[in-house]
Amino acid sequence: MKNNTVITDNTDRTTAEYLRSIDTEGALIVTDANVERLCLPRIACLRDIPRVTITPGEEHKTLASAEQIWEALERVQARRNSLLINVGGGLITDLGGFAASCYKRGIRFLNISTTLLADVDASSGGKTGVNFGGLKNQIGVFSWPEATIIGTDMLDTLPQAEVLSGYGEMLKTGYIADASLVESLEAVAVAGVTVERLRSLIGRCTEIKRSVVEADPKESGLRKILNFGHTAGHAFESLLIKRGTPLPHGICVAYGMMTALILSHIRLGLPSEILSRHARLLRATMPAIAFTCDDYPALLGFMHSDKKNDDTSVRFTLLRNIADPVTAQSIDDEEIRTSLDITRDYLGI
Ligand SMILES: NC(=O)c1ccc[n+]([C@@H]2O[C@H](COP(=O)([O-])OP(=O)(O)OC[C@H]3O[C@@H](n4cnc5c(N)ncnc54)[C@H](O)[C@@H]3O)[C@@H](O)[C@H]2O)c1
Repeated sequence: MKNNTVITDNTDRTTAEYLRSIDTEGALIVTDANVERLCLPRIACLRDIPRVTITPGEEHKTLASAEQIWEALERVQARRNSLLINVGGGLITDLGGFAASCYKRGIRFLNISTTLLADVDASSGGKTGVNFGGLKNQIGVFSWPEATIIGTDMLDTLPQAEVLSGYGEMLKTGYIADASLVESLEAVAVAGVTVERLRSLIGRCTEIKRSVVEADPKESGLRKILNFGHTAGHAFESLLIKRGTPLPHGICVAYGMMTALILSHIRLGLPSEILSRHARLLRATMPAIAFTCDDYPALLGFMHSDKKNDDTSVRFTLLRNIADPVTAQSIDDEEIRTSLDITRDYLGI
């Protein structure tokens, strides 16, 4: 496992320095159309490298897009030691990392992250993959980039919903590992969530992610703490997709954390004051989501279909307290329904 992550406010200079240190013959850039338009013109050192551009959107995180990358690699006559340069958010780093790891049984790849969510979560950690059969990340491999460049200067053009999505994952990182990070993020909520206010906290989030992944690279135990908020969060995300009103991943995770905090209080005695603080923060920062008890069967269905669960119970990562997570807590449907009721009470929905 390689761990070569650099945070920079000058992506062009850092990338140029990195590329000078390696052989770039046969290199190919993978990006999406938004990043091509908004970010690539600001990374001049990549100008002369051929590129393949994927249509933005989670529905394009597919084997067909991976095939597009493999065809482009053939066109540039990539060799076993060629470099794939993924420039984009988590979609591109997951997809490009996967395509690189399968091509000729694995070529090197570099991630240049351009979203807050990818900065703090997706661009490092070695999970790569595509969606398949209606399930997220169903096909994929653990595979590590040669290096990850976190280009915080790229965040200036990020839509606010994507900033909030990254903010949701930053909060998760705080809850599982660092009470003072949670406090800093709460202060940002009061002042207003902006890239400017979050920039200085990115480094702490990447440090925490790195230490968790180093201890358990392939998620046999400890790494499951990174799934805090994701069990209910994925279910909310899937429900909204089904309704045709999707919201970015990290926003759904922020709502999923409300449900997980409630279960943590019921099961493990997490202080109730933390639940109120999170509810206040959600109301102050996040776009509202609405669901009723009529949605519970669908939400439970999504939770049971998650790779980690079976028919009888759903596994949650919960907290005894902030920075004291407990993984693999089996929760039955009745407890989940209760926690969804209480989630609605806290949020007034
Ligand atoms: N591998 C992991 O550990 C891991 C962890 C979390 C999430 N993920 C994956 O990451 C993906 C979500 O990542 P994401 O939130 O970065 O989404 P994304 O890559 O789809 O980017 C979100 C949107 O922002 C646009 N964009 C990217 N950079 C921009 C910029 N600088 N300015 C303006 N627009 C920009 C994109 O074109 C896209 O429309 C999901 O597929 C998820 O499964 C992976």
